[in-house]
Amino acid sequence: MSRTRIHNFSISLDGFGTGEGLSLDAPFGHAGHRMHQWMFATRFGAGIMGGEGGASGVDDAFAQQHEPGIGAEIMGAGKFGPPCWQDDPDWKGWWGPNPPFHTPTFVLTHRPPSQPLEMEGGTTFHFLDTTPEKALELAKEAAGGQDVRIGGGPTMVRDFIAAGLVDHIHFVQVPILLGRGVRVWDGLEGAEAGYDIETVSSPSGVTHLTFTRS
Ligand SMILES: NC(=O)c1ccc[n+]([C@@H]2O[C@H](COP(=O)([O-])OP(=O)(O)OC[C@H]3O[C@@H](n4cnc5c(N)ncnc54)[C@H](OP(=O)(O)O)[C@@H]3O)[C@@H](O)[C@H]2O)c1
Repeated sequence: MSRTRIHNFSISLDGFGTGEGLSLDAPFGHAGHRMHQWMFATRFGAGIMGGEGGASGVDDAFAQQHEPGIGAEIMGAGKFGPPCWQDDPDWKGWWGPNPPFHTPTFVLTHRPPSQPLEMEGGTTFHFLDTTPEKALELAKEAAGGQDVRIGGGPTMVRDFIAAGLVDHIHFVQVPILLGRGVRVWDGLEGAEAGYDIETVSSPSGVTHLTFTRS
């Protein structure tokens, strides 16, 4: 059965999934790249940057689970581009001509461009203004029986968990304090019920938390 999964989603110690002040020059706002340094140090992280090398070990073992079995992604407008990217007809996402998704990728936005964007390497961005439930239904159809990844950012992650739509969550608690930004946990009281929860501490300083539907 097709599952809905979140992977490699980084959260600061004080519960933020991104910083404040998102812009073209600062995709994570004042958080900079501190949220994902753990990942870029891994083999998986080096690979998605188009390079080689990187460390194996526990962080890499978790990071590698991002891809297998995924047939579609759903992301929010805040992940796809900086504020008001909808006003730029040439905006095609942050990732260049060959984005690292390689599947149909659904972007939720209240101002959807009228046409999908077909990119190299199997990624097509489809723009939707609809509920999480309907977006997931469309993504599951497109995934052809494989799983659907919820790619973030924190607003999307929160909405999909609140709607009870997520079967497996991998959060990475990063030992930084952001103080401000977009919170992940707000309004999710009791959301842990119904999940088996495991934590693994890494020598890198991050803690991997997994929530798997019981
Ligand atoms: N921590 C991590 O691992 C991680 C992972 C991925 C991304 N990020 C970061 O997270 C940040 C973005 O997160 P965010 O919370 O600001 O935004 P987001 O979750 O990416 O997107 C939220 C936005 O998507 C649109 N949207 C959401 N639900 C919708 C619906 N049902 N129908 C129509 N539109 C809908 C709305 O934008 P509009 O009203 O503008 O259309 C909403 O403001 C970026 O800095 C990104 O780099 C972090």
